[in-house]
Amino acid sequence: MAQSIFLSHSVKPQFSFPGDEQWQGCFAPNKRPLNVRFISNSKAAIREAYTGDSRAIEIPRQWYNLIADLPVKPPPPLHPKTFEPVKPEDLSPLFPDELIKQEATGERYIDIPEEVIDVYRLWRPTPLIRAKRLEKLLDTPARIYYKYEGGSPAGSHKPNTAVPQVWYNAQQGVKNVVTETGAGQWGSSLAFACSLFGLNCEVWQVRASYDQKPYRKLMMQTWGAKVHPSPSTITEAGRRILEKDASSPGSLGIAISEAVEVAAKNADTKYCLGSVLNHVLLHQTVIGEECIKQMEAIGETPDVIIGCTGGGSNFAGLAFPFIREKLDGKINPLIRAVEPAACPSLTKGIYAYDYGDTAGMTPLMKMHTLGHDFIPDPIHAGGLRYHGMAPLISHVYELGFMEAISIAQTECFAGAIQFARSEGLIPAPEPTHAIAATIREALRCKESGESKVILMAMCGHGHFDLPAYDKYLQGSLVDLSFSGWAFGSGSSVSDYSDRVVRVINRIRLLR
Ligand SMILES: Cc1ncc(COP(=O)(O)O)c(C=O)c1O
Repeated sequence: MAQSIFLSHSVKPQFSFPGDEQWQGCFAPNKRPLNVRFISNSKAAIREAYTGDSRAIEIPRQWYNLIADLPVKPPPPLHPKTFEPVKPEDLSPLFPDELIKQEATGERYIDIPEEVIDVYRLWRPTPLIRAKRLEKLLDTPARIYYKYEGGSPAGSHKPNTAVPQVWYNAQQGVKNVVTETGAGQWGSSLAFACSLFGLNCEVWQVRASYDQKPYRKLMMQTWGAKVHPSPSTITEAGRRILEKDASSPGSLGIAISEAVEVAAKNADTKYCLGSVLNHVLLHQTVIGEECIKQMEAIGETPDVIIGCTGGGSNFAGLAFPFIREKLDGKINPLIRAVEPAACPSLTKGIYAYDYGDTAGMTPLMKMHTLGHDFIPDPIHAGGLRYHGMAPLISHVYELGFMEAISIAQTECFAGAIQFARSEGLIPAPEPTHAIAATIREALRCKESGESKVILMAMCGHGHFDLPAYDKYLQGSLVDLSFSGWAFGSGSSVSDYSDRVVRVINRIRLLR
């Protein structure tokens, strides 16, 4: 059956397929390029044509909420003092009303505000690219596609949620927002969004990244944000950590405690989070919704979907709309999260109620966790150094709709070099995990002869992460593998499990 695809006029001269293909539309020279329709009986010809112009689709008008379609609803977050399910008013010191509503909503789709779509137009739709040169390098029959989010102003997927979060705050008249950042990608995204809507932005950046990535700090400052290394002496949470370890490399959990403390103590200040929470994952689904349309346009169906996971937002953004299609029985891809061997919350963590931050100020969330006081080794993928996994991803993992693996950083950088030298893009350290897992899968296809379709989340570029590449190229990058749980000083896994059980028993008694 003939298939068709819309392409921009400028693409046409690059393709000449013998046989039955047709072009419909305007090719008049010196006219504004118009979309034209390319029709062919050959799936391969459609795929070839598409590779030239994957952005000829509309930006989705709605975000997708996977919770609406899950057979079992995720466990609620609990108040850190009463252990009762959190109420909207508990969250209002931290978040604007609309985001609190989105956090708990059961609605399947949420309209994206027009002003947000207007900003999204700066980089969306993002390209879906066939990694043909990587396929050739690996000599694999697999077809590898990557959805590239690195073209946003901050260079990653993070602005997909920074923009709506700041917009909803601005709508409620909020003037100041605070946040944490690991790699600096989230902090720079929030600084960018604040500069668009005129809000003040203050960021606590994990010390290890603050030192390793001075250019991210400068980006934030260029967009007008104030940046502090975390742990800092500004907050009680930071001072407590520094008393114990004056040279603490910090962690996302500590930086969250600092930002939450400042928001909780200042009535004119709200807090923004770059991952983990339901509304953040929701905003990122614009990636997967776009990708479904792009894959449909070329008649491709992914067999394997791969993404890296820190708190889980880029992975969820790509995967959740495909999980909807899977639950609907339309497709059946394997969905694989990839985490760093040094911080393997999904593959080695306990599924339990735990705090989202180190100081224990946030609600208790049921998630895969290495313990809220776990401080991961300073691997270069700073955005993946988080002790827990998004509660919604943890729940989906427990339901068996996805799987997870962990990979150490030298294999990731080896994959990133192959990717950079074949596809051209230099990935951020975080998606190198997805690349390494994609290469593993493509090489398995080479052995088995299967021509699987592998779809990968390429969530950011690594232009400010070149010191990590320098280390790898000099041969001095080492693997920092997970050396067992570090649940607080002098405690062990069983201590921690006991503590979790005690909390759960207390919750039962309270009910
Ligand atoms: C480029 C990039 N990818 C991935 C991540 C991990 O976050 P998440 O799992 O929420 O996508 C980060 C976090 O900072 C990041 O900067």
